[in-house]
Amino acid sequence: MTDFVCVPFYDLFQENGHVPAVRANLLPLMAGLRRSILEIGAGTGLITTSLADWTPAEIFALEPSAGMRAVLLSRLSSRPELLGRITVLSCDALTVALDEPVEAVVMINVMYALEPDYRKRLWPVLAASVETAGLLVFTWRDGGPPEPRPLRELQARQVGRHTYTVLSQILDSGEEACRARYVYRITEGDKLISEEEITGYAYFPAWNVLSRELASAGFIQAEGAEGLLVWRLA
Ligand SMILES: C[S@@+](CC[C@H](N)C(=O)[O-])C[C@H]1O[C@@H](n2cnc3c(N)ncnc32)[C@H](O)[C@@H]1O
Repeated sequence: MTDFVCVPFYDLFQENGHVPAVRANLLPLMAGLRRSILEIGAGTGLITTSLADWTPAEIFALEPSAGMRAVLLSRLSSRPELLGRITVLSCDALTVALDEPVEAVVMINVMYALEPDYRKRLWPVLAASVETAGLLVFTWRDGGPPEPRPLRELQARQVGRHTYTVLSQILDSGEEACRARYVYRITEGDKLISEEEITGYAYFPAWNVLSRELASAGFIQAEGAEGLLVWRLA
């Protein structure tokens, strides 16, 4: 499973990666939520625990990767006061089936992983999962996929005597998708401890594509925040 290659690196890099800005911009959008939130692609729970800290809502943290879910459950077990109101779902987003619709669906840094056909089928599923006038909040950036570029280091972190480094390369790039290569390297000085890599597609839908899909699933755009789109179920 490719996810086990990147899971050990995830918190090391993302805690100080996209997470601080997302937390700052997401917090005001969650104001007033009291009852329930569905988080799609909860990952290791970096956003999940923030949602639980900001709101009194019950949270359904959906995460299909067993590796990511293991870290999520480990994080939750270190916050026993949250265990009573966070349910971890192991299904993928398309097969989610809640007992009742939630007040909000939150999806942070997940859309890049969804193939266009999967994404188109997802919006009606989310529309069925959220209450009328409920929120759908997700990360999106304009500009399409990145252009091809050679392998370069993204970031490195020291863990004891070892250095954890992530490198990425964009192999090719089209209208909506690019093929990216990620290298996960652990070294001790000049000695290579381990190196594994993943190659896969990432998707960056244009605004007109996305807005058409969401409108046809019954969503209306609402005011968002930097890097975050907000839609309401009509
Ligand atoms: C980059 S991580 C983001 C995790 C978390 N939201 C965060 O911001 O730290 C993307 C997550 O989406 C999950 N994911 C990918 N495809 C999915 C799908 N079809 N349904 C639900 N989750 C999915 C992955 O397993 C991964 O944990």
